[in-house]
Amino acid sequence: MSTSAHRLIVSVLLIAVALTSIHAVTATDHIVGANRGWNPGMNYTLWANNHTFYVGDLISFRYQKMQYNVFQVNQTGYDNCTIEGALGNWSSGKDFILLDKAKRYYFICGNGGCYSGMKVSVVVHPLPSPPTSAAVAAEHSSSTSSASEVFRHGPSVVARVVVAVFASIWFGSAAWI
Ligand SMILES: *[C@@H]1O[C@H](CO)[C@@H](O)[C@H](O)[C@H]1NC(C)=O
Ligand SMILES: *[C@@H]1O[C@H](CO)[C@@H](O)[C@H](O)[C@H]1NC(C)=O
Ligand SMILES: *[C@@H]1O[C@H](CO)[C@@H](O)[C@H](O)[C@H]1NC(C)=O
Ligand SMILES: *[C@@H]1O[C@H](CO)[C@@H](O)[C@H](O)[C@H]1NC(C)=O
Ligand SMILES: *[C@@H]1O[C@H](CO)[C@@H](O)[C@H](O)[C@H]1NC(C)=O
Repeated sequence: MSTSAHRLIVSVLLIAVALTSIHAVTATDHIVGANRGWNPGMNYTLWANNHTFYVGDLISFRYQKMQYNVFQVNQTGYDNCTIEGALGNWSSGKDFILLDKAKRYYFICGNGGCYSGMKVSVVVHPLPSPPTSAAVAAEHSSSTSSASEVFRHGPSVVARVVVAVFASIWFGSAAWI
């Protein structure tokens, strides 16, 4: 095979990998209560403890609209099921809320459901800061880190690691990247 054919194959592979990693960095949508949704009689502390939230993720509430709703409140509102000074409210029945800050968020149902357990508090963590590509390469080869951790560092870093791997396979050198 000619060198240009090699380069073409590598380019096609890189585009495929870039598209895959762009998909992988897409934020997670955390569906409150999973398939049981936003309803009375649940312990949403158990649900929240089972999830890790990062800045840029979504939290979404699914419920019978007209019957329930969602208020973002502060800790007082969460503890006492009160909506005074609420930071936001939603009532579409399928609400997607962006968790855009690293802090503790509090959500309650504002029309009585809070007293039956419709309250949830989540801690949103900052995204891990992107390490150098050398560090990613080291992590990559030690294969101790999960794929999702590597993908969180961003598509460009992932792509560079992949370029290096393919370059060394096809050309025996990574000098050109
Ligand atoms: C929900 O579960 C948490 C964690 O086990 C527990 O501390 C809390 O008391 C429970 N809440 C209710 C209302 O049962
Ligand atoms: C926690 O997550 C696991 C895996 O996704 C799931 O099987 C389990 O039912 C969850 N537990 C709760 C309390 O949501
Ligand atoms: C909220 O409830 C706590 C106890 O959980 C109580 O000490 C506090 O006074 C209440 N605050 C308001 C504003 O009602
Ligand atoms: C929550 O908001 C209410 C109403 O604005 C306020 O009175 C209360 O002090 C706030 N609580 C906290 C913990 O910030
Ligand atoms: C709900 O939010 C809207 C703005 O989006 C606000 O005008 C309204 O007062 C809020 N309702 C309550 C009960 O806080």
